[in-house]
Amino acid sequence: MQNLDEYSITDAVLQSQADTPNPRTREIFDGLVTHLHAFAREVSLTEDEWLSAIRFLTAVGHKTDDKRQEFILLSDTLGLSMLVTAMANRKPKECTESTVLGPFFVTDAPAVPNGGDVAQGAPGELCFVSGHVRGLHGEPVAGARMEVWQADEDGLYDVQYENLEAPRARGVLFSEPDGAFRFTSIVPRPYPVPHDGPVGDMLKALGRHAWRPAHLHFMIFAEGYEPLVTHVFRKNDPYLQSDAVFGVRSSLIGDWTTHAHGVAPDGSMHETPFTTFAFDFVLAPVRA
Ligand code: BEZ
Ligand code: FE
Repeated sequence: MQNLDEYSITDAVLQSQADTPNPRTREIFDGLVTHLHAFAREVSLTEDEWLSAIRFLTAVGHKTDDKRQEFILLSDTLGLSMLVTAMANRKPKECTESTVLGPFFVTDAPAVPNGGDVAQGAPGELCFVSGHVRGLHGEPVAGARMEVWQADEDGLYDVQYENLEAPRARGVLFSEPDGAFRFTSIVPRPYPVPHDGPVGDMLKALGRHAWRPAHLHFMIFAEGYEPLVTHVFRKNDPYLQSDAVFGVRSSLIGDWTTHAHGVAPDGSMHETPFTTFAFDFVLAPVRA
């Protein structure tokens, strides 16, 4: 293995890893080397450009800590997260589509009874959310565990604040025997993904913005069904066509109706505006 040139080096690297004990590891690294080398050849990568890429990845690493995952953000904004999500969640077209998890899910969110308040003081306009969880054949899914989380009207998740004493705008509830669920929360607003780091610089260099259309996250678990990680979007949001992380599916866009005043779905009377939103989720049966 000497005198390798720009043409023979790829085969030499592939040969060097031919004895990789785990076949899947070999498949992944063979693909990685093949495509990385092809990429460098295709764009005629210069030494300066290669060094900038190394500096960029180093900065991504330095920005990452237990609160900020700049590598996942890089994957999200390059569309890789959504590609992997799409490949991992092929399912019948009647089922609710999956989309990216995002970095703001946390375990141990507070339990919320059906009809309860998820917002817990998060700033935003009152919103009544309801719907059903069903299976592929329309059967109600009872006792589905539903994790819900969202940003507030300032575009921030609770975990992005320094000194909050308790979680807010997130909760866990369970569907009723007929599959129904309902809770109050706040109206989601568009927000930019964190862009004060190297990924933000990359977006700027590419002439891209950092915004996500307004959405409400759901993660739903029920026995006998595949877990569903998704979110629902608001019709007419200005960023539906240019989501910074490529997560929008048209089947996940819903109508959020604003009411100037009147009787809300829970029978309460309101003198000030409130919003209602209904959405049904269809779970895929667990794969054999
Ligand atoms: C989110 O929707 O919470 C999110 C997804 C990807 C990157 C940043 C935020
Ligand atoms: Fe989000």
